[in-house]
Amino acid sequence: MKNKRELQDADKKFVWHPFTQMKDWQREDPLIIDEGKGCFLKDLDGRWYLDGISSMWVNLFGHKNAALDGAIKAQIDKISHSTLLGLSNRPAIELAERLVAFFGSTLNFQPSSSLSRVFYSDNGSTAVEVALKMAFQYWMHKGDTAKSSFLCLDNAYHGDTIGAVSVGGIDIFHNTFSPLLFKTFHAPSPYCYRCGSGRGRAECSFECLEKTEEILRTNHREIAAFIIEPIVQAAGGMIVSPPGYLGGIRDLCRKYGVLMIADEVATGFGRTGKMFACEHERVVPDIVCISKGLTGGYLPLAVTMATDEIYNAFLGEFRDLKTFFHGHSYTGNQLGCAAALACLDIFRDEDVIEGLAPRIALLTAKLDGIAALAHVGDVRQKGLMAGIELVSDKQTKEPYRWEEKMGWKVTHRARQKGLLIRPLGNILVIMPPLIITEKDLSWMMDVIGESILEVT
Ligand SMILES: Cc1ncc(COP(=O)(O)O)c(C=O)c1O
Repeated sequence: MKNKRELQDADKKFVWHPFTQMKDWQREDPLIIDEGKGCFLKDLDGRWYLDGISSMWVNLFGHKNAALDGAIKAQIDKISHSTLLGLSNRPAIELAERLVAFFGSTLNFQPSSSLSRVFYSDNGSTAVEVALKMAFQYWMHKGDTAKSSFLCLDNAYHGDTIGAVSVGGIDIFHNTFSPLLFKTFHAPSPYCYRCGSGRGRAECSFECLEKTEEILRTNHREIAAFIIEPIVQAAGGMIVSPPGYLGGIRDLCRKYGVLMIADEVATGFGRTGKMFACEHERVVPDIVCISKGLTGGYLPLAVTMATDEIYNAFLGEFRDLKTFFHGHSYTGNQLGCAAALACLDIFRDEDVIEGLAPRIALLTAKLDGIAALAHVGDVRQKGLMAGIELVSDKQTKEPYRWEEKMGWKVTHRARQKGLLIRPLGNILVIMPPLIITEKDLSWMMDVIGESILEVT
């Protein structure tokens, strides 16, 4: 077995890390995680860290969770993987049925348009690719071949595959690839802190919806679907949309004959204080993408769910070529589906969502304190998801120049104190596992406050 030094050297020699300038990486000693328990991760020296971003927004019920471990081990004893192309399997069938019932019971505001079909893939990006292709092909089958574009939001993030990047709106990630991307329309992001109106959240919502309607009025014939991260644009900076905005988007999609795709990859599974973010505004999308928390943060699995209306449009004779030609090697993987079923059992049996309220209130109180700091421009929160925007000048809202890496410096300081979080530019992201205790949450926020003070 390699010792710590040998592992670090081998990492630097062989591994190419995501979203990482590897030249910087070479100068550091990488932190290597060896073990996890509950909300904590242990490095090779035996030092424990609080996992403040749920291992990239996936973990819900902690590491080494007995129920999830047990479900996966039991499944391994039967079979780990067989294909869903031409075959089926028990966990995939049972999970699909549970998810449909689950969405039916949480999003049953308009039963006639319930999400009734489950298409499996492997991660958030593929769930989005599936949704885009499904929406496009749906309109083809309806005889509407002009609908070959999409409407998306500025500051949107839907993943890193080319389709997902095409509907993304974060310049620093996406501009490089612009020659490869397909055409999309961009509507303004409801980023009230920096929106043009500067007149409050209700006006921000009104203005964004008005501008979005203008785009739809002019271009709806070309637009297959509007894709949106409901309530929180996560990677774009934890941008929380103002009340009424999401419902307004749903109405516009209906009015202009455009499908609505809700990307709940980051917001799903309780993060926003409800099981799915769409519930906050009683919105039922035509297509929904979920992943990340689906397996409790254990295994890569995703689903794209669609309504009967969409599914039925793909039915026909073999020769009609209405088949949805899409699939991946690990589609419907048994281990992932077994973990997801165990995860849904926890939600069913343990009143997880109801139990979040005191910790959400605690987070609000702690954020209020942090908002008062000299270099904190804005704090945004929905449920247990939050963002802290650092600014060089609070009065003018002048951001730190991205080259200053201010967010990174604060998170680096927090790491020295035993807390793992990641920034999005100048925005500090808070997204702990749902099982975090009040004590740990309180400590986490105190460390963040101290780190901001020390670095800024
Ligand atoms: C809203 C949203 N959609 C899609 C994705 C892509 O998911 P993945 O990284 O699993 O491909 C992410 C990832 O953060 C996300 O936040």
